[in-house]
Amino acid sequence: MLNYTFVQNIKVLAFPGAVGCFGEMVGTAGYKKAMFIHGGSLRRSGVADKVAASLAEYGVECVSFEKVKSDPPAELIDEGAAFAKENGCDCVIAIGGGSAIDMAKAINMLRFNEGSVMEYFAKPHVASPGLFVAPTTAGTGAELSTGSVITDTVHNMKLPLPVNNSMPEAVVLDPELTVSMPAAMTMQTGLDAFSHAVEGYCNLMSNIMMDQICEKIMEIVAENLPVVVKDGSDIAARAKMQAAACMGGWSLTNVYANVGHSLAHVVGANYHLVHGSACSYGLPPVLKHIAPAVPQKVRRIGEILGASFTGSETPEEIGVKAADAYISFRDGLGMPSVKEANIVVEDLDTLATLVVNEPFAQLTPMPVDKDAAAKMLREMLAL
Ligand SMILES: [Fe+2]
Repeated sequence: MLNYTFVQNIKVLAFPGAVGCFGEMVGTAGYKKAMFIHGGSLRRSGVADKVAASLAEYGVECVSFEKVKSDPPAELIDEGAAFAKENGCDCVIAIGGGSAIDMAKAINMLRFNEGSVMEYFAKPHVASPGLFVAPTTAGTGAELSTGSVITDTVHNMKLPLPVNNSMPEAVVLDPELTVSMPAAMTMQTGLDAFSHAVEGYCNLMSNIMMDQICEKIMEIVAENLPVVVKDGSDIAARAKMQAAACMGGWSLTNVYANVGHSLAHVVGANYHLVHGSACSYGLPPVLKHIAPAVPQKVRRIGEILGASFTGSETPEEIGVKAADAYISFRDGLGMPSVKEANIVVEDLDTLATLVVNEPFAQLTPMPVDKDAAAKMLREMLAL
């Protein structure tokens, strides 16, 4: 049995309309000038103005930084930190998807730590308070995870920056922020949340507390993702997906992920495949790979997805059944075939090496060598 610690000390404020509380939250904490990170859609929807007005009401000035990029490059983080310093900001607010929140965690860290973000993958940073975030998607769990995925543009790699000391002071979960999310993004981000739960559940660091939470996340996503993909305005189902995704971020903080995210990070960085899609294409081969090590857990995943088992299956058969159940769940949502991404792999050997060396691969309950990684990549990308 694994000894473990269990961490969650971030205030989470969750209800429809909660985004209107930013002024009170930030103002009463004593901050005076916020760097406000968001994309153009938040301005167009009027939410950015609503937040700025709420801040003004509590005497907090704000300056917008609208340069949100998916898979945020390290250079953008450095630029954002310089912007915060030049403008004399004493706090950072981010409202957006996982990339906006990842940017905010890294930028806020650099307000208190000199140099480029690239220096902090391998060295600790001092505590960096003054961060407040609200996700507009339900998937990454970036609001509660202690990593920030930054792209190293020199080596074309997506790297998890540890930001344990730069976590939000408060997280706002407002399901109304997610209702306008298009069906495709709803699906991709929701499948990312499902992958976080599976990979935390089937992980060398898994523990009894996180296992309960991961099972619940999977159940919520299995039940509610089809609902919100079909009807984005279902606020109750949106709130459940937001809670599941947030708990998935919490799971990442405590037990991280496994080779599923290694596959997604390597393929995502090399072929610019959307993260949630990459996770969903990688999960079936991962389930088959790990079934011999954790057959009961893989069986439970299959059951959550509607598969039935006789009890006489071999671990390999359990893996195939669970993978098939996942594929029919995923494809039933409307996910396109991976073939539509037109990925041409010229050097599978190099990709497999990158997967083996990606940090999460080491946490897979079944060892991942180059042959195993190549096999999973071939199945993931239908090569
Ligand atoms: Fe993820």
